[in-house]
Amino acid sequence: MLVDVASIITTIANQNCSFAIKSQGHAPAAGFANIDKGITIDLTGLNAVTTSEDASIAHVGTGASWLDVYAHLDSLNKTVAGGRNGGVGVGGLTLGGGISYFSPQVGFTCDSATNFEIVLANGELVETNASSQSDLFRALKGGLNNFGVVTRIDFHTLPMDGILGGRVVNDISHRSEVFNAFRNIADAHPYDVHASITTSAIFNAVTKAWTLLSAPIYTKPQTNPKVYAELFAIPSISNTVKVTQLHTLANESAIAQTNQLFSTGTYGVSTQLLDRIFGICNDTLHNFNVAGSLQWIATFEPLPMVFVSPGVHDNVLGTSPENGNAMILLFSASWSDHDASSSVHAKLEEVLRKINTAAREMGQLREFVYANYAGTKQKPISSYGAQNDAFLRHVAKKYDPHGIFQSQVPGGFKLFD
Ligand SMILES: Cc1cc2nc3c(=O)[nH]c(=O)nc-3n(C[C@H](O)[C@H](O)[C@H](O)COP(=O)(O)OP(=O)(O)OC[C@H]3O[C@@H](n4cnc5c(N)ncnc54)[C@H](O)[C@@H]3O)c2cc1C
Ligand SMILES: *[C@@H]1O[C@H](CO)[C@@H](O)[C@H](O)[C@H]1NC(C)=O
Ligand SMILES: *[C@@H]1O[C@H](CO)[C@@H](O)[C@H](O)[C@H]1NC(C)=O
Ligand SMILES: *[C@@H]1O[C@H](CO)[C@@H](O)[C@H](O)[C@H]1NC(C)=O
Ligand SMILES: *[C@@H]1O[C@H](CO)[C@@H](O)[C@H](O)[C@H]1NC(C)=O
Ligand SMILES: *[C@@H]1O[C@H](CO)[C@@H](O)[C@H](O)[C@H]1NC(C)=O
Repeated sequence: MLVDVASIITTIANQNCSFAIKSQGHAPAAGFANIDKGITIDLTGLNAVTTSEDASIAHVGTGASWLDVYAHLDSLNKTVAGGRNGGVGVGGLTLGGGISYFSPQVGFTCDSATNFEIVLANGELVETNASSQSDLFRALKGGLNNFGVVTRIDFHTLPMDGILGGRVVNDISHRSEVFNAFRNIADAHPYDVHASITTSAIFNAVTKAWTLLSAPIYTKPQTNPKVYAELFAIPSISNTVKVTQLHTLANESAIAQTNQLFSTGTYGVSTQLLDRIFGICNDTLHNFNVAGSLQWIATFEPLPMVFVSPGVHDNVLGTSPENGNAMILLFSASWSDHDASSSVHAKLEEVLRKINTAAREMGQLREFVYANYAGTKQKPISSYGAQNDAFLRHVAKKYDPHGIFQSQVPGGFKLFD
């Protein structure tokens, strides 16, 4: 299989043939992991998960899903700071950074990588790590599919003996209390490193109903941790939070296949801003109708200082604790009717523009655009900062002098746009 990837690259690189690289295909943007009139290199066969003798390092094929990883490591009482939804692929998530339940403890998923095995533009299969081609090693921690086809990633493991997780649904009438609880978790000093939460405001454009859905996680098998006391005290419609295993929590049922689009922004943690974002969403979306189903989701996730600290010198994302605690917004749309796509795209961009304008006015707009959540017109790589951007271009020229991964791999965010 590995030999296959190397010989495919050797063959197609010389033929000016366009290609796409695909792990589990969870990037919603069209053409990011597939291609029209070209070759898709589907890595899902490279899905082996093994560990070093003492289980301190996990060796993972990039085509594996995170569920594959957790199913294997849970039996060893170990884990990796990987994706939350088990269906997501190891390759795409890690090369874009990677937000994990364990990120407040150990940083982005890419910060846990100790070694990448990669097929370069010239067809060579190499390993890159802190002591071997360390510039390439660093570039892969956020540099996406711009450097080669990554075939295996080795990760530091963490001890694991169960996790608290589930979902809490609140009526929209309680949103001030829920936003307040979210703020108090996300902007706590000190931040509880075992806490990881997403809070989503979900709008069904057909029924015009809003719902609040939070997924509070605690990375220890502990019921009722103090950090969630405020959230759990708010009257809820349902609360399924319980101690479980990661492979059970990550084993979410497959989502119905619909059209889907992501977009994102990073902001200071503020209840006023959360309220304002909700207001912008409702005002802009309430009377927007298309044929078929349509759902909008604004998901907020803490990006505390402890989360960005481990990778500050080692990845290329440009996030820094100096900017204080922050939160990431994933603003997404899912809809059934393909003919509605261009108007949904335009509406999504309009909402994000209004949110960013409001956040800028409030002094809460941050630079970082998280690549794994970014819309196709967003510029995540330039959000890493001029220095990181220049570093990535330099490393790309060194390892891919003919720009194969720029010109022949059109999918994804490119370095020379
Ligand atoms: C349901 C769902 C849940 C999610 N949960 C999380 C989460 O918990 N945390 C988080 O951070 N993100 C999450 N995401 C976002 C996710 O990280 C991105 O969508 C990511 O791109 C998916 O990775 P993949 O390997 O499945 O995707 P793919 O679509 O296969 O690949 C994504 C991009 O990476 C490139 N790529 C993939 N593998 C390789 C490789 N081996 N070598 C070179 N390039 C490669 C592809 O060319 C493509 O451009 C989620 C997305 C969805 C849809
Ligand atoms: C490679 O193909 C692209 C379009 O597929 C074309 O624009 C370009 O000129 C080609 N380059 C060479 C060197 O043939
Ligand atoms: C995930 O869930 C499905 C359906 O309930 C089950 O068949 C499968 O074994 C589960 N996988 C893991 C790794 O737990
Ligand atoms: C994992 O932990 C459980 C419960 O603490 C224990 O019974 C089991 O032996 C451990 N397994 C390994 C492989 O360490
Ligand atoms: C680093 O890469 C070299 C080869 O380039 C390899 O021999 C070595 O085992 C790697 N180190 C780690 C920690 O993976
Ligand atoms: C959303 O906006 C509509 C139309 O202006 C309004 O009737 C409704 O009360 C708002 N919903 C919420 C939850 O504020």
